[in-house]
Amino acid sequence: MSDQVQEREHFGSKLGVIMASAGSAIGLGNIWKFPYEAGKNGGAAFIIIYLGAIVLVGMAIMIAEYVIGRRGGKNAVGSFKALAPKSLWWIPGLMGVIAAVAILSFYGVVAGWTFEYLFQAAKNSFAGQTPDALSAQFTSFIQHPYRPVFWQLLFMGITCVVILSGIKKGIERYTEILMPVLFVVILILAIRSITLPGGGEGVRFIFHPDFSKIDGQTILNALGLAFFSLSLGLGAIITYGSYVKKNDNLISTSIEVIVLDTVIAILAGLAIFPAVFAYGIEPGSGPSLVFITLPNVFQQMPGGMLWGILFFLLLAVAALTSSVSLLEVVTAYVSEELKMKRRTAIFISASVITVVGVFCSLSQGNFNSLRIFGLNIFDFLDTLASNYLLPIGGMLISLFVGWRMKKEDLLDELSNGGLLKIYAFGLLRFTLRYIAPAAILFVFMNKIGLI
Ligand code: PFF
Repeated sequence: MSDQVQEREHFGSKLGVIMASAGSAIGLGNIWKFPYEAGKNGGAAFIIIYLGAIVLVGMAIMIAEYVIGRRGGKNAVGSFKALAPKSLWWIPGLMGVIAAVAILSFYGVVAGWTFEYLFQAAKNSFAGQTPDALSAQFTSFIQHPYRPVFWQLLFMGITCVVILSGIKKGIERYTEILMPVLFVVILILAIRSITLPGGGEGVRFIFHPDFSKIDGQTILNALGLAFFSLSLGLGAIITYGSYVKKNDNLISTSIEVIVLDTVIAILAGLAIFPAVFAYGIEPGSGPSLVFITLPNVFQQMPGGMLWGILFFLLLAVAALTSSVSLLEVVTAYVSEELKMKRRTAIFISASVITVVGVFCSLSQGNFNSLRIFGLNIFDFLDTLASNYLLPIGGMLISLFVGWRMKKEDLLDELSNGGLLKIYAFGLLRFTLRYIAPAAILFVFMNKIGLI
């Protein structure tokens, strides 16, 4: 690929678009957070609400992001500028870029942890350890001054290598290989987990609806998780949308990405909970579930070393394809808006993010006393991005396409200039104008404690 600022690459095929977007959506959010939240919030009942949130809000916003990106033809900020010149609509785009920097800073740290655990699994070092020892091992690792930083730097380096190769030869090629690998690995793990003696209880735990646990908070949790899991609200899909060819079908692409993301989340639940139940481990152990509880599960399983390696490989791959999309949001912005060569833009973006990320890593240990609004740097950036920037960004994206964009332009973009028949256009536009913004406002007000 040429390094010129003006030249834009495109994904080569619709499959490439789907794999890259699904790669962005499927990440630590699905494989760790979704099973844990589903387990804690009533299993099947939570899953039903999560699916409802995706259909009601997530789908419309994903379509809206693709529309902005492909019609605007630029990065998250540039696309808004192209579609609404001389207005302040570039602000949601810039918020998205800031959110991407914030998320990737701590996401890279957690992704680095997956490398350490892959390494530990390959050394078979979980074998014969007590749950307490595994817990102490995790705590001392994340508090270590340079060991997690080493893995984080390696992870960020690999993310850069993917992005450096460009859109078609980098993002598209790698995700097209990695996503099927991820799918196969999680499927094998789910089958292994379900067929463990006593695993059936874990399946019931996820699929047996217990509506008594559902309250307003649970509904909001499901909505918020749907949002984060689908990579919505910060322009990742806008940026990828700008690389989508004019003859690809944006609505079917969105649906396929959403189905893949959801299937992987459910498979992750099936891979984790039956094993957790089979070995009598606490299902709601939260942040520790993946890094403390699962090594404990693996070391008790026949062939545990192999399952451990497979699982952490899967987690690392899922994190990588999500990180690639986060870095691409920032890179595309820096290269196009600040007029830099792509290579320079990658270097600058990744350096800034990595430096902030190192502080996030250190905030687990030595720098924990450094506080912003009472939170350490890691938690502050997580809260800032997830609780504020994403919901507000998503709401503004929805409002932009619902109200600011002309109805004919939206129809034109979705139908590829009238070539495709669009069903339920009125419903989609109604969702963008009213339902999605109202629902997100509800989530946001809950997050800041107004509801
Ligand atoms: N969707 C990713 C996950 O579930 O882990 C996280 C994420 C990636 C959020 C990219 C936002 C984004 F732009």
